[in-house]
Formats: sequence, C-alpha cells, structure tokens
Amino acid sequence: MKVTIIGGGGRVGSNAAYALQCFGIVAEIQILDANPDVAEGEALDLMHGASACADQRIYAGDYARAADSDIFVITAGLRRKPDESRLDLINRNVALFDGILSSIKAAGFRKDALIFVVSNPVDILTQLAVVRLGLPWKQVLGLGTMLDTARFRSLIASSLNLAPTQVKALILGEHGDTMFPVWSSATAAGLPLDKFPGVTPTFQTQVFERTKTSGAEVIRRKGGAGWAVGMTIAETVHCIALDKKQLLPVSSLQQGKYGLRDVCISVPTIVGRGGVVEQVEIPLWPKEQQALQASARALGEIWQKVRPK
Ligand SMILES: NC(=O)c1ccc[n+]([C@@H]2O[C@H](COP(=O)([O-])OP(=O)(O)OC[C@H]3O[C@@H](n4cnc5c(N)ncnc54)[C@H](O)[C@@H]3O)[C@@H](O)[C@H]2O)c1
Repeated sequence: MKVTIIGGGGRVGSNAAYALQCFGIVAEIQILDANPDVAEGEALDLMHGASACADQRIYAGDYARAADSDIFVITAGLRRKPDESRLDLINRNVALFDGILSSIKAAGFRKDALIFVVSNPVDILTQLAVVRLGLPWKQVLGLGTMLDTARFRSLIASSLNLAPTQVKALILGEHGDTMFPVWSSATAAGLPLDKFPGVTPTFQTQVFERTKTSGAEVIRRKGGAGWAVGMTIAETVHCIALDKKQLLPVSSLQQGKYGLRDVCISVPTIVGRGGVVEQVEIPLWPKEQQALQASARALGEIWQKVRPK
C-alpha cells in the first residue's frame, strides 16, 4: 500500500509518517510538502532509520508521483493559535485546502484512492473534499474525533489507574467545540465504566473538560500536537490497509443514521479497505442524542458559509 502525506514536512504529517514507519505495515510512504526542502529532510531522516525498522520505501515526492497512491493523507494546514477555535481557522484553511484538492485532481488519482483528511477544521474540509473530488463518499474520510477519543481513553485510564488499551470510550460529533463524550457505552475490560468506584458526575465532567481542552494545552506547552495524532492517523491507515473493519469515530458524509444528512461528522463507523464500510447507529442517552444534533447543526451552519456555490 502506498500512502502519500500532503503536509508531511509539518509536525502532524512527519509524526504520522514516523508512526507508519514504526508499525511497518504500509509498503511506501511519500512525503509531499509545499516546502520541498523540509519534505526531503523528513523523508531522508525517516529513510535512514529503515534498516533498523521495516522494509518500506520512504521518499519525498510531488503530485505526479502521488497519482498512484492508495491513500492521500492531508495534514497540510495552518496551525491553530492557542486561543483560536478550530472553526476560526476555517477561512485561513479552506483556500489552502482547495488548492491541494486542485493539485491532486490535476495530477490524477486512482478511482479507488482514499482521501483521509486531518487538516482543520477537519469535518468541514472532509465535506469539501467529497464535493470537490467527485469520489464516492465512502472513499473520503476525516480523522474526526479519533484523537479526542484516544485522549479521552488515555486520560480516563490515567485518572483511574487502569490500563489505557482496556478503556473503551468514545467522543463523537464535531472535532471541535461541540464534541461530546459517550458515557452510555464506556467500558473498562468490558465492565461498565460508570459503575467504577470514583466515576462520579464530577469526575466525568472533569475528565471530559480535560480532554476537550487537551489540544489547546498541548499547543500552549509545545507548539502543536504531534505524537498522539500521528498514532491515530496510523491506526486509521492500518485499519484500511488490513481491511480490519474496526468501528472508529472517523468523520464521513452522513447518509441518514441518527437523522443526519449532508454533514461530515463523527459517528461510530466501520472502516475497511474501501474506506467507510458502514455508519452504525447505536442507542444513545437522550442528552448524547441532543449533543450530536447540536454538533451537526453547528457544522451545518459553517458548511453553509463555505460550501462551493
Ligand atoms: N484532526 C486532528 O485531530 C488534528 C490534530 C492536530 C492538528 N491538526 C491539523 O493539522 C494541520 C497541520 O498541523 P501541524 O501542526 O502539522 O502544522 P505545521 O505547520 O507543523 O505543518 C503544516 C505543513 O503543511 C505544509 N503546507 C502548507 N501549505 C501547503 C500546501 N498548500 N501544500 C502542501 N503542504 C503545505 C507546510 O509547509 C507545513 O510543513 C493543521 O490544520 C492542524 O490544525 C488536526
């Protein structure tokens, strides 16, 4: 499988490339960036480690060389400023993203290629990619609340002294201000999390608030998120590459589940080699249902402002 990372010279793109290298599952990793020097540098640095890690081809490229990619991971973008909401980034990032989609189109891409959007605001840009590229909607996905979900699980585990991989709990909705936690189905080793000692309403509020503000906290402390987002990008790419059909909270164009249409948003989604296999509707608590609808409304309002006319 060949993966091209557009914006691969940046923090998120290069950290994703490193995660893809460490797991050694995809065959080719192409780094593409508006700054060719930095793309060459990152690709070279990664390639130097290949002999100690995995038999992969890692190189810097361009759109012509990317045309036969199985997956385009798009991480190019402008970073969020510490106090800026993700949706405030929209005007700065839509034009840049549109340019990238035009370049992919001009150089050509495979009919079965997948577009995997990471740049923010990720839900809006995922929808823009569906509209602009004319690919079947199932072949376009966004990272959505994958990172928020990873942070939520890790923070719950750390607070309760549990093993992080055994904590299963979802964040759904917008990757942004209206994301919400799904406590109704949260478990640790299969046991209901809301029955665990210490899991009080106050605990739930605190751990979700910490999750929601994690992005801003990391930006404030080190300039931008990288390692965890790289890990969740790799998790999604591997789910596609190995046709795992895992349920992941990625963002995709909704087709009527939960009463949602014409919006890209995160709901539990089965992901496989062809991209989205199926969006899954599970019963949510009424307040979770309301939060999902509110999140979709917030995204819909933004989409109406930026959608191609
Ligand atoms: N979805 C998520 O969960 C999530 C998490 C973290 C960051 N992000 C987003 O990822 C994006 C990148 O963040 P970062 O910290 O890596 O930023 P960064 O500034 O480190 O890297 C961005 C890279 O994009 C490149 N670039 C800019 N315009 C380009 C273009 N037209 N074509 C190709 N490359 C181009 C830049 O040269 C740079 O190397 C941002 O939009 C950020 O908000 C998303």
